[in-house]
Amino acid sequence: MREPYRISAAGLPERVTIYEVGPRDGLQNEPAVVPVEVKAEFVARLAAAGHRVIEATSFVHPKWVPQLADASELLTRMERAPGVRYPVLVPNERGLDRALEHGVQEIAIFGSATETFAGKNLNRTLESQFEMFAPVVARALDHGLRVRAYVSMCFGDPWEGPTPIDQVVTVGRRLLDLGCYELSLGDTIGVGTPGHVTALIEAFGGPSRLAVHFHDTYGQALANTLAALRAGVTVVDASTGGIGGCPYAESATGNLATEDLVWMLHGLGVETGLDLESLVETSTWLAAELGRPSPSRVVQAMGANPARRTTDQHA
Ligand code: HMG
Ligand code: MG
Repeated sequence: MREPYRISAAGLPERVTIYEVGPRDGLQNEPAVVPVEVKAEFVARLAAAGHRVIEATSFVHPKWVPQLADASELLTRMERAPGVRYPVLVPNERGLDRALEHGVQEIAIFGSATETFAGKNLNRTLESQFEMFAPVVARALDHGLRVRAYVSMCFGDPWEGPTPIDQVVTVGRRLLDLGCYELSLGDTIGVGTPGHVTALIEAFGGPSRLAVHFHDTYGQALANTLAALRAGVTVVDASTGGIGGCPYAESATGNLATEDLVWMLHGLGVETGLDLESLVETSTWLAAELGRPSPSRVVQAMGANPARRTTDQHA
């Protein structure tokens, strides 16, 4: 089959915004550095498939993430499609300066809910990460940028074990209070389960200004997404082809695959604005560029039986 049978279920939003992180979260963890022209084509294909928010790259320290050291070159080359937002990750003022040189209109800061990961990912303590982010957000807002925040290790941390829910809420609120329009709850190592997701969203007082960002390390990402949608969340991060992971988080693997998410959402009658065939074609192309198969189950199923765009398209 090339598209799911559509049967709606109660208690779900009519439409979900998929915040695509493949070019950033996906490619930051690739063993090899992907050529900049491949990255630019990946971004263009994602826009052509219907994505309206594509996180393009990171202005982090190039030695910390060599895979994205070509951020400036990518932004110089990248075509922008009308109506598409292209946020970039920015940790500090140096990163903001670099992003502003390219006329970036939206950035994302990324905090940690745990002490150990703040040290490993940001070279900061849990407390001092806020001192790094505060001037970034203030200056970005002065320049008229939109600022999103991530909070990582929301469910568990490889060094500290389960993350206390109140600790996630405290860190998350402080990031939002800097002036961010949205907070994306990151399950960086994919250990969360649906009841935990519901409890975390409730602890924030409901879904307002929350998005979710699941890695699929333990196979829970789709179930967790459904729990988040039932709790009222309408923005879901995903990575086309299911590539991704954080180089500073032991055992982090790919993000929830956009195709797997789209299959579920379209089956539930939830609109995404995305063309599944184009996404699968893109992931099949990218897998050939990366030299390994896509981890997405939908890409594997549909890619193994390529579309015949004739009468048997729905066979
Ligand atoms: P640091 O070493 O503490 O930096 O790194 P510093 O402030 O001490 O500066 C040291 C030198 O680096 C200075 O140069 C700076 O100019 C330079 P010098 O004066 O010595 O010549 N520098 C920079 N150069 C270019 N761009 C910059 C930059 N910043 C400083 N932005 C820092 C601190 C935050 C920079 C570093 O720890 C870093 O880059 N970390 C990023 C790690 C990362 O990208 N991880 C992956 C993304 S997070 C993620 O994947 C999780 C997420 O997906 C959600 C989830 O799954 O949970 C978002
Ligand atoms: Mg991530």
